[in-house]
Amino acid sequence: MGIHTKSEFYDVEGWLRNTDGPPLREVVAIGAVEGKSLVHLQSHFGMDTLRWARAGALVTGVDFSPAAITAATALAERAGLSDRATFVCANVYDAPAALSNERFDVVYVSIGSLCWLPSVDQWGEVVASLLNPGGKLYLHDVHPNALSLDDSGERTFYSYFEETSDPLVADGPYTYTDGEGLKALRTYEWNHSVGEIVMSLISHGLELDSLVEHDWTNFRHFPWLVETASGEFVFPVGRPRAPLTFTIVAHAPQ
Ligand SMILES: C[S@@+](CC[C@H](N)C(=O)[O-])C[C@H]1O[C@@H](n2cnc3c(N)ncnc32)[C@H](O)[C@@H]1O
Repeated sequence: MGIHTKSEFYDVEGWLRNTDGPPLREVVAIGAVEGKSLVHLQSHFGMDTLRWARAGALVTGVDFSPAAITAATALAERAGLSDRATFVCANVYDAPAALSNERFDVVYVSIGSLCWLPSVDQWGEVVASLLNPGGKLYLHDVHPNALSLDDSGERTFYSYFEETSDPLVADGPYTYTDGEGLKALRTYEWNHSVGEIVMSLISHGLELDSLVEHDWTNFRHFPWLVETASGEFVFPVGRPRAPLTFTIVAHAPQ
């Protein structure tokens, strides 16, 4: 966790100084959150969660890493948002019980989340059981097509589908941020196709509002991506484009 909280990628000190709320595209999709309840699944050390507290929501972050929960709680204090933010240490699959079956106006999931979960169907069930009637899910994550490519981004290496319970295993000394010192060198990930993700929501009763595939991401997923002035990573001019991330908005029926 220390590698991430100290990284230039996350720039915690800059985040504390500039007091930005959530990205405009997320505010447009989710709408006004003043006084609403929002639960962030896999909240990491809370930066994405606390942007919603800055926008007036009462936020709850859930993550199974005790270090992430400690860092998120400390960040909320430093940002003066402790009165609107709670962080709970739990596996996402146990979130309904860990949150005493509380329901929320918004379930929020930000980039870098679904790939750590073995079953997207079970995740969809959790999302459905956390939403108030009429409540919204907002999910922005890495596109499974991009996750099926090797590190060079040149060829398909991993399965696009969840289909098998075997995880994708990768070895390496770095995380996706700058900084060194990673102690656990092996990571296990699971890919979930767009169809599997959409059906995990529909089959648990949610209604789909939008599914948008994006030709940009917010980290250097592949060496050849070009960084724009606004910090997005895009295809170089002339290279055929494919989806790098995607956004789903869905809601629970009234
Ligand atoms: C890459 S981070 C999310 C990044 C986040 N969008 C951000 O930029 O801050 C993924 C998080 O998922 C958490 N996580 C992975 N599997 C989980 C699970 N089964 N239950 C709860 N949290 C989990 C990890 O501890 C980690 O904090």
